[in-house]
Amino acid sequence: MGRFDSPRVINIEDLRRLARRRTPRVVFEYLDGGAEGEVTLRENCRAFETISLRPRQCVVFDEPKFATRVLGHELSFPAMLAPVGYSRIMHRGGEVAAARVAGEFGTGYILSTISGHKLEDVKRATNGPAWFQLYLVGGREVSEAALDRARAAGFSALVVTIDTPVAGMRERDYRNGMKALLGRSLFAKIPHLPQLLARPRWLASFLLDGGTPKLENVIVPGQGPLKLEDVAAALGRSRVEWKDFDWIRKAWPGPIVVKGVLTGDDALRSLDQGAAAIVVSNHGGRQLDTASATLRALPQVVAAVNGRAEILMDGGVRRGSDIVKALCMGARAVLIGRAYAYGMAAGGESGIRRALEILRADFERTMRLIGCSSVSELNGSFIEAPEFWPRRTCS
Ligand code: FNR
Repeated sequence: MGRFDSPRVINIEDLRRLARRRTPRVVFEYLDGGAEGEVTLRENCRAFETISLRPRQCVVFDEPKFATRVLGHELSFPAMLAPVGYSRIMHRGGEVAAARVAGEFGTGYILSTISGHKLEDVKRATNGPAWFQLYLVGGREVSEAALDRARAAGFSALVVTIDTPVAGMRERDYRNGMKALLGRSLFAKIPHLPQLLARPRWLASFLLDGGTPKLENVIVPGQGPLKLEDVAAALGRSRVEWKDFDWIRKAWPGPIVVKGVLTGDDALRSLDQGAAAIVVSNHGGRQLDTASATLRALPQVVAAVNGRAEILMDGGVRRGSDIVKALCMGARAVLIGRAYAYGMAAGGESGIRRALEILRADFERTMRLIGCSSVSELNGSFIEAPEFWPRRTCS
């Protein structure tokens, strides 16, 4: 029995516990934490808990249909892997490992701009769909070069994240010395070194991998890959405006996905900009604290879009039943962030694999328990949402 097999690891929280044990505090809390008081981070998960399921009993399953289509791609179950920046710091397999496992499970992977592996290597690692997530780090010219590479490598959609005009105030990163540890000054690192030395296996693997990775997909002309330590400053200069979509559309002729929408108004603006899909997301509670929980924001976006684009959601998905609930409320699929990243931090590829096994098995079991044999049949009649939530039509 492997390290991640049952009964040691039976849910995502178990992987979270192992991730905390394997990685230094600065790395674990970067992954685990949210902005300011972490209200939105908690609410994302709590929103799922406030929804009750309404099962249909005695339903016979001939051929259950758990697969779905997202932007024309067949996914074996309705969950894709969200972009998670700095993945290579959590484990040296990083983005390549995540993409490979996504492909094994018949689902898609979204590569963050803030990635330590070359996008070509990431695409080669997976036999599933791969999308590229764009931050305008380094400016338009640098982004256009990345988009050319992504298209040539075979990435099939572009995800533009719009909720990051500045980096959120992630208090845990400040306390743990994230900036000092990524920075150049050895002197500034000294107070934070004990937490790295306390995780010798992670440290050895990190050093063997060459230490802090460079951003292989943000190539600054005349300088090469952007150094990770410059990222916070670069993100601060990388905000996107609606009018940027004019040049983004020219640079990326394929489908565009707008990630970070929380209101019907912004959903409509995204449609005006030609979005083929929208991700209802608050960045996993890492940007604007006290922003709406995404599950609560979902119905108004579904109503505003009214079938004119595909709607995905993320934030707080830790169980297969969460995926079912999101679909009942109108999402076509969910993105998972921390759920697989905990697995990655706990043990690279095998940890990610375990996370997906757990979520897929949970999802299929929940479908059987509610008596629904196909994702296309999930609707509001399978759930009971609190009265004060904006409502979508329930059959
Ligand atoms: C993220 N997220 C993110 N989003 C994005 O568009 N680009 C990025 O580089 C990152 N980086 C990132 C790092 C880490 C450590 C986390 C946890 C998240 C947000 C991510 O794509 C997704 O929106 C959330 O993770 C969803 O919430 P859950 O599933 O983590 O609760």
